[in-house]
Amino acid sequence: MINTEYIKIDDKLPLDEQLLRPVDIIKKGGLVAFPTETVYGLGASALDEEASKKIYLAKGRPSDNPLIIHISKPSDAEKYCYTNESYYKIANKFMPGPITVILKKKDNIPLTITGGLDTVAVRCPENKVANKFIELCGFPIAAPSANTSGKPSPTKAEHVFDDMNGKIDCIIDGGQSTIGLESTIVRVIDNKCTLLRPGGITINQLYELFQDIEIDKAVISKLSDNEHPLAPGMKYRHYAPKAPVYLILRDNNDSKIIEFLDNKISTNIKTGILASNEIVNRYKGKYSLSLGANNNEREQAQNLFDRLREFDKLDVEEIYVVINQKNNDLGLAIYNRLLKASGFNIIEL
Ligand code: TXA
Ligand code: MG
Repeated sequence: MINTEYIKIDDKLPLDEQLLRPVDIIKKGGLVAFPTETVYGLGASALDEEASKKIYLAKGRPSDNPLIIHISKPSDAEKYCYTNESYYKIANKFMPGPITVILKKKDNIPLTITGGLDTVAVRCPENKVANKFIELCGFPIAAPSANTSGKPSPTKAEHVFDDMNGKIDCIIDGGQSTIGLESTIVRVIDNKCTLLRPGGITINQLYELFQDIEIDKAVISKLSDNEHPLAPGMKYRHYAPKAPVYLILRDNNDSKIIEFLDNKISTNIKTGILASNEIVNRYKGKYSLSLGANNNEREQAQNLFDRLREFDKLDVEEIYVVINQKNNDLGLAIYNRLLKASGFNIIEL
């Protein structure tokens, strides 16, 4: 066990001073969890091979799953990778923000960070604590989500504490992540854009820049053993609470869904229900959790991982999640995370 320092950011005090200690820790090769607008990251110097190895150890993460490097301004990408016109199109419109771009790496980025690939994922977070932290470090920060590998990503410092206390040097508490789902990951070659992971920047927003967007098969389909997703991490079961998760896709008619859930609730099994307010309000028990208002995808995205983690605390035996059909907005990211959390377990009613 190592002693994990906990630093709660106070908006009334100067930010730079509050970040001195975590910056010092990371400069000495330590691990620091920090808030971002998407989810909390588990950071180490991206130029320090030994430090980044500690990330894999703390998370229990397979070493072939590469890390994203975080920079404080988009032009810093020049130092670590070969940028192109499409990178700047994206950067000018969406950075700083919840998007990650895959580019060819330069030699200063160690292969331990990229899982042996010749490309590297680059992201410039908007969250002011994250951005200032990276700027003060003066080098790029390699950071995956700060959860134990396989668990739902952390959107609050307490989630990080639950997974990482005693395993990392420091947690910066900057409050709840505003987006709540990880960044959108894209690969851009010439003027073609491939979506590897849907996230905070939606496909509809990307269509403002690219006419043609390909969606990697792994985003909405289960791959067979001999298929490989473009983002290595997409092959692992992820975001999963302890209990099995079943997905129910909502259409125009809720009556079948309600009949099904009524039946499940009437058994002795501790049945978790996760849905928007109008469905959850029918089930007042403590195992029914709300994602938020049905027409508010922002709210649902922000709450999703917190609720999946809550089910672990409640010790439910099975979880039924009712969600809307996927769309080209945040709905695709919500759908993708739930497909992974359920292991593609969709119930047809
Ligand atoms: O919002 C986010 O992106 C958060 C915050 C902390 O920035 N980070 C995050 O990192 O979600 P992580 O490690 O949990 O997910 C990174 C994903 C993985 O699926 C990984 O396989 C993919 O990015 N990835 C990283 N480098 C890649 C590369 N060179 N080529 C393809 N995929 C890559
Ligand atoms: Mg992750």
